[in-house]
Amino acid sequence: MLVLAIDQGTTNTKALVVDESGHIHAHASSPSTTDYPHPGWAEQSAIAIWDNTRSVIDATAAQMKGRSIDAIAISNQRETIVAWDAETGKPVGPAILWQCSRTAPECAALIAAGHNETVEAVTGLGINPMFPASKLAWMLKHRPEALRLLDQGRLRTGTVDSWLLWNLTAGATFATDHSNASRTQLFDTELLEWSGELAEIFGTPTSCLPTPRPSDSHFGGTAQDATSLPPGIPIMAMMGDSHAALYGHGVHKPGTVKATYGTGSSLMTLTSQRVTSSHGLSGTIAWTDTSGTAYALEGNILVSAQAAAFIAGLLGIGDAGKLSDLAQTVETAGGVTFVPALSGLGAPHWNDHATGTVSGMTHGTKPAHVARATFEAIALQISDVFEAMQSDVGERLVGLRTDGGASSNAFLMQLQSDLLQRPVESAVVEEVSALGAAAMAFRALGQEWLPDMRSKRYEPRMVPDSAKTIRAVWRDAVRRACS
Ligand code: G3P
Repeated sequence: MLVLAIDQGTTNTKALVVDESGHIHAHASSPSTTDYPHPGWAEQSAIAIWDNTRSVIDATAAQMKGRSIDAIAISNQRETIVAWDAETGKPVGPAILWQCSRTAPECAALIAAGHNETVEAVTGLGINPMFPASKLAWMLKHRPEALRLLDQGRLRTGTVDSWLLWNLTAGATFATDHSNASRTQLFDTELLEWSGELAEIFGTPTSCLPTPRPSDSHFGGTAQDATSLPPGIPIMAMMGDSHAALYGHGVHKPGTVKATYGTGSSLMTLTSQRVTSSHGLSGTIAWTDTSGTAYALEGNILVSAQAAAFIAGLLGIGDAGKLSDLAQTVETAGGVTFVPALSGLGAPHWNDHATGTVSGMTHGTKPAHVARATFEAIALQISDVFEAMQSDVGERLVGLRTDGGASSNAFLMQLQSDLLQRPVESAVVEEVSALGAAAMAFRALGQEWLPDMRSKRYEPRMVPDSAKTIRAVWRDAVRRACS
């Protein structure tokens, strides 16, 4: 059996064809452009999102030389919202990206009006401009065309999965999966339906939202000429990318955390029930399938591997790889601590006003110490979120499974294991999200494939007391960066 899995990400759209033993038969990738028209704004062309997706589908299909594809699986950037006209398929303005904070004032007003508690109780998510709810309200206020289409019953709005599905099926299916819906801040994650109460709080309709369905649904079939694929290939799985990565790591029960090391970092762990965090994390739906709803906790770090590129630039020593080489020339950071609060601090600290700090320098400080402190900072931020997750679930979490570009850095992974004092297992492939979505599609087709991406295992080598000391100094430095 062959599944074509799409991973529509913020910087790249990828597609691959995989069989049920995990062997990849074809793959293609296409970069995306993001526009930043005003400070704090981030947009992408919705047409380009679909065009890129179609081009990687066509490229992988061509590599298969006529071998038939049994199903399609979609993993996608979450929280990005697209609006379009149901009759023409034309987008109403650009997609508003998850990174876009244009609705920060509206969100602050909603918090000031005391709505945060209700919103968090229904969705697991604190009010934040990242989530689509306030963005949808913004679209209806600032794009007259959206309001006109809404009045005519022609407006369709949804996360990227619903936009791709609508295009793949040539408008036949307007649906989303529960994991993507759970990130909109309009979805009741207990009742699994759009929340009228939240729609009222945010001032949005629910009539223009897609039908929410389990992640392993038969979402529809490919339409003739939508892509080069033949008509009728079923779309059997849709999941937000972090959720798909957790599934792709083979994490199917609580206890293990996945961490993606990218520009920022996303950590996710399954929970045995729906959890509202008391430690700066989000509660979310991991996925829904025939066995029910899997819930998760997530923590997002704003600047992670990007910190290495930043310091490499600052020290004028090229790239993060060179910084990693330099960091390994010293045994310790020599008392230096770097807090990479370059755009505030995300989970679990959430402080918009925190700024980056380097502390603990003396006449003996060398660039290598700062380099090492940078990699420690990446690992320490992950450790903070891991610990917050542990406090929320009230149980010891056993280890970390990692993916993303920087997870191939053995020095960083060893440091992570040392500072966390837990085993760390890094993934063998980069496409964990696409493979996770593919695994969900295989399952939906009755073909159980439990992916196991682990390629390398790191055990803590640092003595626990040394790790404890570094973490205590780090906590002080974070406190200062936030003050
Ligand atoms: O929450 C946003 C996230 O889903 C984006 O992921 O991989 O496109 O940066 P990515």
